[in-house]
Order: sequence, then C-alpha cells, then structure tokens
Amino acid sequence: MWIVLFCGLLFVALYCVHGHNDDVVFLPNERTTLDDCHLRFHRLQPRGFVAPAAGFPALLKEFAHMGAIGWTQPDGNILWKCGGTLIWLDTVLTAAHCVLDANNKEPDVVRFGDLNIETSEGDKFAQQLKIVEIFRHPQHRFSAHYHDIALLKLEHPVELSDIVTPACLWTDEEVRFKVLEATGWGRTGYVENQTPILLKVALKPMENEECSRVYLNGTDRKLKLGLQSHQICAVDEKMDTCEGDSGGPLQVKLLHNGRMTPFIVGITSFGAACGMSTPGVYTRVSSYIDWIVETMQKSGAMVTEDTYNATFCALSFAPFREFDEAMIVSRTATDVNLNYERAHMSTIYELPSYLAQLVWNGDTNDCYGVIIDENTVITLAQCVTKNGIPVSHIRHLNDNALEVSRVHVHPKYKHESSSNNIAILRLKHLLNILDLQPACIWHEETPSREVHVYGSGRTDINNILFEGSEIYSLDPSLSILTPRLHFQNASSCIIPKQYQPLLRDGLTDEYICTGEHLFLVPKSCELLTGAAVHNEVNRGNIYPMVYGLNYLSRDCGFGEHSIAIGTASHVGWMKSVLLPNGQKSHGTVQFVDSDRHEGDSCRRYDGRAARCTPISNCSRGWKQFLSNGTIELCDTSSLVCCPLSDIVNSDNSVVHPVLQECPTLVKDLKPTSSAGSLVYIAWLTEDIVEFRCLGTIITDRIILTTASCVGTEVPTGVQLPANTSQNMYRVNTTVLHPAYKANDHINDIALIQLEDTLVWSSDLYPSCLWTNTTHVPLVLSMISPIAQNISRSADHTDQNLNITAIPEEAEYTRVLSMYNSDCQRTHEHEVLDTQLCARNPFESITCGTFLDQLQFINADKVPFVVGLSTNFSDCSNTYFKLFTRISGFVNWIGMYI
Ligand SMILES: *[C@@H]1O[C@H](CO)[C@@H](O)[C@H](O)[C@H]1NC(C)=O
Ligand SMILES: *[C@@H]1O[C@H](CO)[C@@H](O)[C@H](O)[C@H]1NC(C)=O
Ligand SMILES: *[C@@H]1O[C@H](CO)[C@@H](O)[C@H](O)[C@H]1NC(C)=O
Ligand SMILES: *[C@@H]1O[C@H](CO)[C@@H](O)[C@H](O)[C@H]1NC(C)=O
Ligand SMILES: *[C@@H]1O[C@H](CO)[C@@H](O)[C@H](O)[C@H]1NC(C)=O
Ligand SMILES: *[C@@H]1O[C@H](CO)[C@@H](O)[C@H](O)[C@H]1NC(C)=O
Ligand SMILES: *[C@@H]1O[C@H](CO)[C@@H](O)[C@H](O)[C@H]1NC(C)=O
Ligand SMILES: *[C@@H]1O[C@H](CO)[C@@H](O)[C@H](O)[C@H]1NC(C)=O
Ligand SMILES: *[C@@H]1O[C@H](CO)[C@@H](O)[C@H](O)[C@H]1NC(C)=O
Repeated sequence: MWIVLFCGLLFVALYCVHGHNDDVVFLPNERTTLDDCHLRFHRLQPRGFVAPAAGFPALLKEFAHMGAIGWTQPDGNILWKCGGTLIWLDTVLTAAHCVLDANNKEPDVVRFGDLNIETSEGDKFAQQLKIVEIFRHPQHRFSAHYHDIALLKLEHPVELSDIVTPACLWTDEEVRFKVLEATGWGRTGYVENQTPILLKVALKPMENEECSRVYLNGTDRKLKLGLQSHQICAVDEKMDTCEGDSGGPLQVKLLHNGRMTPFIVGITSFGAACGMSTPGVYTRVSSYIDWIVETMQKSGAMVTEDTYNATFCALSFAPFREFDEAMIVSRTATDVNLNYERAHMSTIYELPSYLAQLVWNGDTNDCYGVIIDENTVITLAQCVTKNGIPVSHIRHLNDNALEVSRVHVHPKYKHESSSNNIAILRLKHLLNILDLQPACIWHEETPSREVHVYGSGRTDINNILFEGSEIYSLDPSLSILTPRLHFQNASSCIIPKQYQPLLRDGLTDEYICTGEHLFLVPKSCELLTGAAVHNEVNRGNIYPMVYGLNYLSRDCGFGEHSIAIGTASHVGWMKSVLLPNGQKSHGTVQFVDSDRHEGDSCRRYDGRAARCTPISNCSRGWKQFLSNGTIELCDTSSLVCCPLSDIVNSDNSVVHPVLQECPTLVKDLKPTSSAGSLVYIAWLTEDIVEFRCLGTIITDRIILTTASCVGTEVPTGVQLPANTSQNMYRVNTTVLHPAYKANDHINDIALIQLEDTLVWSSDLYPSCLWTNTTHVPLVLSMISPIAQNISRSADHTDQNLNITAIPEEAEYTRVLSMYNSDCQRTHEHEVLDTQLCARNPFESITCGTFLDQLQFINADKVPFVVGLSTNFSDCSNTYFKLFTRISGFVNWIGMYI
C-alpha cells in the first residue's frame, strides 16, 4: 500500500520506484550486440498468465466411421466378414468382393459404434442397420482384383453421434502422407481366430512400380494386367499386426478446427498375409469419386460434387470429430480433458506488432517482414523487389504505409537463389515504440523446442471447435493462423518434393526446418512469406524471439516441413549493417578536434567512449593504433582519443575517496526515504522565493545541479528535505563546468557550495554518484520537481533566510535508459558519451522539465545520481529525454570536493 500512497510526494517519497530485491539490469553505454532487445525494448510489466481452459469430457471416437458388414445366418446369428466405411448418413463404402460371400450370398446388415463385435460390451452405443441396396462397380469382376469397390445403401440414415459419423474421401491423386492407417476386426471370415476388438495398423504407402515387383511375379491370376493406377499399395513395415478388414478403410486423419477427420484413401482389397512385409493392395478412392457421387445421387442421397471437397466435408461433421491429440491433457475410460492452448493450430485476430506487410507500388503483396526495432525490418531478399520495382513502404498494424528509406540486401544473395535470402529495410521515420514490441533475434544454434509460425487460411476450417459447437456456418474469409511446430533436424526434416531443387545442398546451417508429422486438411493453411518463426523467451519478462523468416512451405509445415532462413547464421552481416560501429570504415588518420585538451571526452570512429589522453596513458600505444590504420588525435601533439577501457592509471579509476565511500556511508545512515538528498535551489527577491531547480546533495557542502539551471546568477540558498531543517542553507559559490555550451547543452553540470556544513541523519544524507563508465542501470526513476514561486511575507529578512515554505510535490516516473546510438537517430545534435538518454516506456513523448534528474536506488536503499536533465525544449515531439551522464564528470566533480 505505501508504495502507491507516497509516490509523487517528493519529500516523503519512499522507495517507490525500485522493487527491493529486484535483479538490477544494466545497459551498456555502447551497443555491441544484436542480442539486446530485452534491454532496448524492456517490458516493465510482467505479463499475466492465462489460465488453461478447463477440460471437459469427450468420448472415444476413433472408429466412428468404421462399420462391420454382416451376413445373417438362418439361425439368426450374424457373421461379420467384411469391413466398410460410412461415407454418408446412409451409405457405406466397401470392396466389391465383399458383396458376395463364399456361398454367393449378399450381406444384409452393417453395424457401427461397436468396438467389440462379438460381445455385448458397449452395445448400447451400437447402431445396426439393414442394407437395402448394393452397388457394385460395373467394371468389377469376381475373377479379377480390379475396380474392387462397392456402395451399400442403408435402410435409413444413421443417428449421427460422436461414435457414428461418416468419414471424408481423399479426392486427390497425389498421396503424400508418410503413414496411412488401416482398421479392422482382423481378417474376418477367412481366419478362424478372429480379432474381435477393432484394431488399427500403421502402414507406409508404396509406389506402384515398387509394389508391382511383388505382384507381377505372375503368381496371381487375378492380376493379369499388373497393378493399375486405381490401386494403391501400403506396407506394414513393423510386421507386428495383421492387415485391416477386407472392404475396410485405408485412411489418414487430417487436422482442422482442433479436430481430426478421417479421410479414406483406399479400400482394403487384397494381399498381405499377417506377419509378412508384403504390401497390401487397396482400391484408390480418388479414382472413383465421380462414380461414388453419381451412384449415391441415383440412390437418392443429397450429395454434390462439393460434398467431398476436403474443406466442406471436414466441416460437415466437425463437431463429432476427435480432438487434436496435442490438446488432450488426460484421459479416463470415457472422457478426455483438454487444454486448447496446446492445440497444433490457433487463430489470432491480428498480427503481432512486430510483423509488417511489405508494400510495392502502393499495394501490399504477399511478403512480410519482422520489425526488430523502431526503424528496422528484416525480410527475405526475394521480397524486396517485385517485377523490378523495389519495396517502397511497409504496412504495420493499421497504420498507413510507412516509407522505407534504405534497403540492404545480403551482398551474397543472387537473384532467386535460396541462400543468403535475407534483407534489411530501414524506415524513414521511427515507429512509435508504444505500438510495438520489436522481435528479438536468435543468435545461437537452433534449440529443440516448439515454435510458432504465421499462416493464413479459411476461418471456418481453422477455428477451434469447442464442444457443443453443433451449429457451424461456412466462413471463407481468411484468418491469421499460428501453427505450433517443432524444429526438425537435418535427418528428421521432410522437405516437400517441389522445393528440393532449391535446396541442392540440403538443410545447411543457414536454414531452419520446422514442422509436424501430422497433415492438415489440404488448402487450409499457407505460411506468410518472410514472417517470423518465433516463440517467446523469458528474460526477466516475456519477449518475442525470432529464429527465422518463413521461406518455403506447403500446408504450413504440416506433414511435410517448412524451411525458413535462420537469423543466427546471418547475425554477422546484420551486425555490420545495424550496429553503430558496424559500417564505419577504418584506414584513415583522423584529427578529432584540435580544440580538445587532456581529459576531455572525445569520440572514436567506432563510437566507443573515449577520452583525450597522453599516448603514454593509453594501453594500446602507437603500434596498435597504427596497425588498425586509424588513429584519432585530440590535438597535433601526442594526445590520443583513447577508449576509456584502455586508459591506464587514469584518474578515471581513481574516484575521489569521499565519492568512493559514499555508498557505505549512506547505507549506514539507514535512509528513511529516497528523497533525503534532494534540495530545491532558491533565488530570493523582495516578495517571492523562486524555486527554480532541483539539486542533489553529494557531500556535506556540495550540491550537484546543472549549469543551465544555475546560470550566472548565484542562487541565494537551498531548501533541505523535510524533517531536517525548515531553514534554507545559504549558498557561498557556484561552479559551472568550464566547457558548458548552452546551445547544445554539452557539459551541462554545476556545483553549488554551501556556507555551512550539513549534518547527516537518516533524513539527510548524500546521494552517491553513478561512477561506472561502461554501464548504467536500465530502469531508473526520473524525478520531476515542480518549479514554483512562493510569496514571502514581509517580515522575513534575508539575513536568516527563515523560509518555511517548502515546495512539496515531485513526480517520480520510471524510465528506461537508452543507447546513445538509439537516440542519435532523431536527435538534432551529436549525442556525446557524456550524455545519456532515457525514455518513458509508457508514453510516446518523454516529458519532463529541465529540473529532472535520473536516480537509481540500490538494494541497500542508497540513492545514486545517474543523470541530470539538460533539455530545455521539453514536451516537444521527442520520445526520449537527454541528460548529462554523471559518470562522465566524476573526475571533474572530484576536483571540487
Ligand atoms: C518526519 O519526522 C516525523 C517525526 O519524527 C516522522 O513521523 C515522519 O515519518 C518523518 N517523515 C519522513 C519523510 O521521514
Ligand atoms: C517371384 O516368385 C519366385 C517364386 O515364387 C520367388 O522366388 C521370387 O522371390 C519372386 N520375386 C519377387 C520379386 O518377389
Ligand atoms: C474446396 O472448395 C473450395 C471453395 O470452392 C476451394 O477453394 C478449394 O480449393 C476446394 N478444395 C479442394 C481440395 O479442391
Ligand atoms: C533428429 O531429431 C529426431 C527426432 O526429432 C531425433 O530422434 C534424432 O536423434 C535427431 N537426430 C540428430 C542427428 O540430432
Ligand atoms: C584492431 O581493431 C579491432 C577491432 O576494433 C580490435 O579487435 C583489434 O584488437 C585491433 N588490433 C590491434 C592490433 O589493436
Ligand atoms: C596519465 O597518467 C598519469 C600517471 O601515470 C596520471 O597522473 C595522469 O592523470 C594520467 N592522465 C590521464 C588523462 O589519465
Ligand atoms: C566562499 O567562496 C569563496 C570563493 O568564491 C571562498 O574563497 C571562500 O572560502 C568560501 N567560503 C566558505 C565559507 O567556504
Ligand atoms: C560497471 O557495471 C557493469 C555491469 O554491472 C559491471 O560489469 C562492470 O564491472 C562495472 N564497471 C566498473 C568499473 O565497476
Ligand atoms: C517565478 O518568478 C520569476 C521572476 O518573477 C519568473 O520569471 C518565473 O517565471 C516565475 N516562475 C514560476 C514557476 O512561476
């Protein structure tokens, strides 16, 4: 409670901003890696976790389309000798050879929804219907194995249920499934000890040519013409179970709507004795679709050409289908518990903020890119031109098109080649970071984990159908899909045939392969080209991580897998384009600034923080400078611009003892608030006290503030925090940084010396200086006091400065420190190493006053000054605010202590 209550009151502000034992994250001054999006785009608020959906029961529905075909015997017993498949409410598909038994008798009943055909177990669910008409394919002869297909018309429609539902038909000639399934009660009627329980067996499809080698051996007189294209072979490689029933289905289950629908690819025809790796031969259903539909129409069924269109058929009985196995959390004998978040496929309402669509010629095209910061998009190289026209804009969320200012194509990319197919787009203007959580770029070896991709597909076939969604309407509109896939390695990756020529060297390190072995109902999902292969990583908070850019795929990586251009293998090139020092060329001798003096900060060609140092104080020495071909001199003599990390014996590492001991001193004082070192600086005139600036006590006589605030007019006094003294302390002198430049606020720092010495207590203590020259804390609090004038009553005299008015309010805002290179993108002046930028992550403009300062409080409750506001033109259109970086002035401050 107190956190909320006291934030905002300057002099009673407790430790509002920082969690007490949070792990503190530091931002390096220089950007040297791309693996930093958790710093650049830090998310302060932990994301809520969505509770998994409650499970609910479902029946075992695996064999809902499977029927047993029976012959009623004179004694009333029924012999179940063939299998069949329910393909319409009153129609069963079976083999033509099943319509007469050895005694030339026709079957008369079909039974559904019964797992154990010989016992009464589960019989209450079973439906048994009479056969009223039999349609044998006109070209079928009992003397041959050809056209082995028949339809049985039932006396009336079945009662649709979870356990009695028609199957769909696979209408495409191409069978690219790696595994098919046959089901049956064993080889009914031909073998004595039947298997009464329904079984399924996994079979591998075999090319007809290969299969012919077995069957063209001339031993089977029923196969005089060899195998025909209307037949299909499949083999049980494991040899552990028998074939399915004669007349029964050879099928595949395809995913849609979070459900699995069986599609019948073949009808069990002949072949394959148990326990042998001989392929079985099946009648290829796709060859007979026209005959099936016409025959059913003749018999009065309301079917059309579209009935067995995969999309429509899958949707027709969708609510009765089994659930996607991945969603099933647990099972009991009759029920399953589901978690929809585990589904293989989900729909989302809008693309994530880091995906952008590329625009040519004013029109969007089918390419996407991944936004990795406010003005950078990565995409496929093949996407950056189309018909010779380069990409000109991107479209992001609902924004109008945003202009692309520069395109970097990987220098080794060749037109329409598959390697180095990556490009970087730079945008002319920065995207508003509030609308955006840019994606992080994966740097390392591909992990073995689940990922998501982005696709597009019909809404109706992809929405997860919850239980009870009985009414379901067609909706051909497109939805955004996020299939959940697994990384596949070089040996498990199945590259679709049509893409194999593009990947002549196979799955090299450049590519990542993702997919599932499961197939989808065809044409239900296509991947968005150039979009992200991603998931979420936890780096203190949850961040989107991109592993690659979608490149080649079919059915979104289901069944056969999809190939993406991996980011990790291109990080080196991306760094050369994106990092501030990446593209700067070496090889010239530069004179940085002939005006600089020993100890001044200077700027190196590579952007590293540096200071003008005698060459003898710089550990690199002449040789090292020269070997790299570049040297920056601070004057014409021997002062070099030496990276801070290379300065030896520099006063930089010798922080003044008073400053060095500060954290221990303050810790021992046990501060009661975070405001015990903040003072208002006051100018007195006859009738008002003008509180113009905020200062920070850093020693018992020195107040730190900005040169721009103090100006040339020495303030009268400083007002101490509450609970200390109601009186003002008189100012003796002020010291402005000699190199302070008012126009661009360089070296905007000043010290105020008091006449009297302060006495420390738990309410009054110094703020320590942030002396680390390579890092600053990422999360800081920006203290914004309010400048105000308070009327003086006439009886006060300037002599005792007995002012009781206390400026009270100050705002505390959490801000994030930034790389200088990031704020340089929009800052009009050069951002120096002695300056620091910070932004409010919740506002598009980082607003404040020139009084603001950046504070960090460590776990011991010791406050540190990290930055002082330098920026007068506030609340303009900048999303960051510029501060004087205290660590750049520790030595200068030390000279006055
Ligand atoms: C100021 O002192 C009073 C009394 O000693 C105490 O109750 C109050 O909490 C103190 N306020 C702060 C901000 O320390
Ligand atoms: C063909 O039949 C012969 C004799 O039955 C057998 O030895 C041979 O292995 C068969 N060939 C093939 C390819 O199955
Ligand atoms: C099914 O019909 C839809 C709509 O007419 C069509 O877009 C789709 O291509 C068809 N599916 C197949 C597998 O032919
Ligand atoms: C490839 O992945 C499969 C399964 O995902 C695993 O069984 C196999 O060991 C992996 N092979 C290699 C070389 O890592
Ligand atoms: C040359 O520069 C590179 C990169 O800046 C650095 O890693 C290397 O150590 C330098 N070489 C010498 C001899 O200083
Ligand atoms: C250079 O080193 C000397 C001691 O060797 C030190 O006194 C001096 O302050 C250093 N100068 C800088 C600019 O670091
Ligand atoms: C006040 O400042 C002056 C320099 O401006 C200095 O000479 C004097 O000693 C200071 N007085 C005190 C009490 O520190
Ligand atoms: C500065 O901070 C970073 C990050 O905490 C740390 O690794 C580094 O050692 C610090 N440098 C100094 C000089 O204390
Ligand atoms: C305070 O008074 C000064 C001088 O009269 C004036 O310039 C300034 O704008 C006033 N500031 C505020 C915040 O009212």
